Amino acid sequence: MDASIDAALEAGYRHIDTAYLYGNEAAIGRALKRWFDSGRLKREDLFIVTKLPVVGYQPDRVEKYLKRSLKALQLKYVDLYLVHQPWGLIETGENMLPMDESGNLLHDTTIDHVALWKAMEAQVDAGRTRNIGLSNFNSRQIKRVFLSARIPPSNLQVELHVYFQQRELVAFCAALDITVCAYAPLASPSMIPAFSPLGGDVDSIPRLSPLTEPVVVKIAEKHGKTSAQVLLRHIVQRGISVIPKSSNPDRIRQNFQVNIRYRPSQEGIFDFNLDDEDVRQLDALDRGSQCRLFSGNIHKGMDKHPEYSFNEPY
Ligand SMILES: NC(=O)c1ccc[n+]([C@@H]2O[C@H](COP(=O)([O-])OP(=O)(O)OC[C@H]3O[C@@H](n4cnc5c(N)ncnc54)[C@H](OP(=O)(O)O)[C@@H]3O)[C@@H](O)[C@H]2O)c1
Repeated sequence: MDASIDAALEAGYRHIDTAYLYGNEAAIGRALKRWFDSGRLKREDLFIVTKLPVVGYQPDRVEKYLKRSLKALQLKYVDLYLVHQPWGLIETGENMLPMDESGNLLHDTTIDHVALWKAMEAQVDAGRTRNIGLSNFNSRQIKRVFLSARIPPSNLQVELHVYFQQRELVAFCAALDITVCAYAPLASPSMIPAFSPLGGDVDSIPRLSPLTEPVVVKIAEKHGKTSAQVLLRHIVQRGISVIPKSSNPDRIRQNFQVNIRYRPSQEGIFDFNLDDEDVRQLDALDRGSQCRLFSGNIHKGMDKHPEYSFNEPY
């Protein structure tokens, strides 16, 4: 973990995406402290994003969870605090996936996004976060929060990759001046091995291989780039930010652009442009929501929550 963070910061990454749920906030906090203490980085150089866990959606729990995240990250504020997903679960201690004896998730069906959003706004007022946003919400849910908001959501983080390009949702957000951040931008190649030991229904996850997709490989060869760089560039060229994950220092560098001070090279995703024909071919790979990887259906009964967001067109 430390090596990955060091490699990313050395390569010039300044946006770090984490979540209470990921359990890696403390490791990120320790690494950042090292960088701050050595004078190599200042807090204001970074854009740190974390997320409210699904068991924290009652308004009186928001402050508690954000304070815990800040403590783990060793920060006074984050740059963006996201509601991790629109459907919530009952808080039972530290268990982030509470279930009954039959393995059904314990849904909190009393959550109200408008009330939750007021508690999110209070965190901006208190200076614990600079911005607030949403993740995995659909357009109807975003609109409801937006219309009630004193501080509008600044960002939506959603699954977005070449096979699931989210055109309608991105246009909807643009109309409301909400920026979009693409998670799983490489279609999460390690998702199935990572989820298999958890015992869920991995067969419900579509098998996608954009890195070996012939159209992508051909465009990559044409530009002297890797498939991953073409996939990331395709998203970035649409004005959407990307948060690819890698634990491999070479791929961490490849997915961004090596800081010119360390190694002047043409290795990154910001030093080339996909032309109109490349874009046309990549756009045509969109298969819509049938290629959604993170439907949550790996966990029994996830889609039974009244605020489950993925049953609607976008
Ligand atoms: N809001 C949400 O609900 C939500 C859900 C999922 C994810 N996220 C966020 O999105 C981030 C990324 O999502 P993700 O990890 O699921 O998907 P991803 O970034 O699309 O894929 C990550 C996988 O791709 C491999 N990889 C990375 N760069 C590569 C390259 N250049 N060539 C070949 N393989 C490469 C990595 O393997 P190596 O490590 O071996 O390089 C890793 O297994 C997460 O870290 C998380 O912060 C948010």
